[in-house]
Amino acid sequence: MEKDEKKTKKSILVVDDEKSIVEWLQIALEKEGYEVETAVSGEEALEIARSRYFNCVITDMKMAGMDGLELLKRLREEDPDLIVIIITAFGTFESAVEALRSGASDFITKPFRVDEITFRLKNVFEKECLRQENIFLKNRIEKDEGVIIGESKKMEELLNLVDKVAKTDATVMIYGETGTGKELIARRLHSNSNRNNEQFIALNCGALPDTLLESELFGYKKGAFTGAVQNKKGLFVVADSGSFFLDEVGEISPKIQVKLLRVLQYQEIVPLGDTKTIKVNVRLIGATNKNLEKAVKEGKFREDLFYRLNVIPVFVPPLRERKEDIPLLIEKFTDKIAKRLRISTKEFSDKSLEKLMEYNWPGNVRELENCIERIMILLDEDKITEKDISAIMHSDIPVKEEITLQDLEVNAIRETIRKCGGNKVKAARMLGIHPSTLYRKMKKLLIE
Ligand SMILES: Nc1ncnc2c1ncn2[C@@H]1O[C@H](COP(=O)(O)OP(=O)(O)OP(=O)(O)O)[C@@H](O)[C@H]1O
Ligand SMILES: [Mg+2]
Repeated sequence: MEKDEKKTKKSILVVDDEKSIVEWLQIALEKEGYEVETAVSGEEALEIARSRYFNCVITDMKMAGMDGLELLKRLREEDPDLIVIIITAFGTFESAVEALRSGASDFITKPFRVDEITFRLKNVFEKECLRQENIFLKNRIEKDEGVIIGESKKMEELLNLVDKVAKTDATVMIYGETGTGKELIARRLHSNSNRNNEQFIALNCGALPDTLLESELFGYKKGAFTGAVQNKKGLFVVADSGSFFLDEVGEISPKIQVKLLRVLQYQEIVPLGDTKTIKVNVRLIGATNKNLEKAVKEGKFREDLFYRLNVIPVFVPPLRERKEDIPLLIEKFTDKIAKRLRISTKEFSDKSLEKLMEYNWPGNVRELENCIERIMILLDEDKITEKDISAIMHSDIPVKEEITLQDLEVNAIRETIRKCGGNKVKAARMLGIHPSTLYRKMKKLLIE
């Protein structure tokens, strides 16, 4: 949404009641490439910090009025992750300890040289970056996500386009049916962009009622409404410098459409109950499984917002239009699932693959992945045949009158427990339910 350079510049708020020190630090840190704002009291600092976001606050400990520790406490109340460095007087070991105990990220004793403070800054930022990366990697391992599988012409074209636009800051709108991998595409846009060291925030706009969506997006000020007991940062602020993925934008109400338009036009937000605007620099990625153009024609979606979002439209093809990807997807999914469930992998006969390619996959890749998981759990043999597929696919839709949904459930539970050698906790995990749910079901369905 904005020029590139802003995002790499870290912003710092310097606080000291001695004006000469603040000025000296401002000049020195700006020379080092930081964006610096200053305040000469704790009260002023708090005021400034409420109107915009900083990567770090450097504050003197001893100040008239609100001192550094009180300021630290107040700042952290509003942003628990904020990096705060405290400047303490020389020789007061106790105050340094106190600063750290109060949650300061680091401290520095007076007098100090510029290179000492820039060294500390680099350190805390590096640490923060590692922490974020750690969270990101952990998530990635847990979900085994991120890799987009597909070598069909359609996927190749799609990925080429995605990688080409990733480097720009242009707003991208991703269209596609459910389960086609829209979120994976959004993540790829982020990780191939210049913002990949910053946050990727995803929000499903269809999953939240209006008021909640509003406060998630824009945040609110303490006291903005009953229940707003403390300030809340909007996700636009959390995603600042990074990418913000808005899923199911077609579900957004007219009221919030207006507010969203404003963010896209002016790159600023106003938290609920606040009068001040906050500048944000966010790359927006939208997604929908609806026909937005049609929604515009029907007057359900604002035309001006549509054009702001639809700068680069990207269409993810449904699985049935790229069936040649199915064998490769199956190969990767069997490996992944085998690893996750710690069971041996399975081989699919050519005929069984053909059978799977005949199916229409209305739920797309997600449905295919779930189907493979079911096969891996329920079938014993190492080689999957055409007949197995027929049986499994039919168990999807219990059309035969003599089979009830309950029968299927009983079978699935029995089989899974047997495969887990009687280990019910493991079986519950495989079935994707809580052990207590499994016990309850076993009791209800009279399973031994
Ligand atoms: N090309 C692909 N390669 C590997 N996995 C994929 C691919 N496409 C989708 N998936 C997997 O399928 C599941 C659904 O993908 P994703 O959540 O990105 O779909 P979506 O289009 O956002 O769906 P919805 O519209 O329901 O939100 C995920 O588990 C994802 O990892
Ligand atoms: Mg999605």
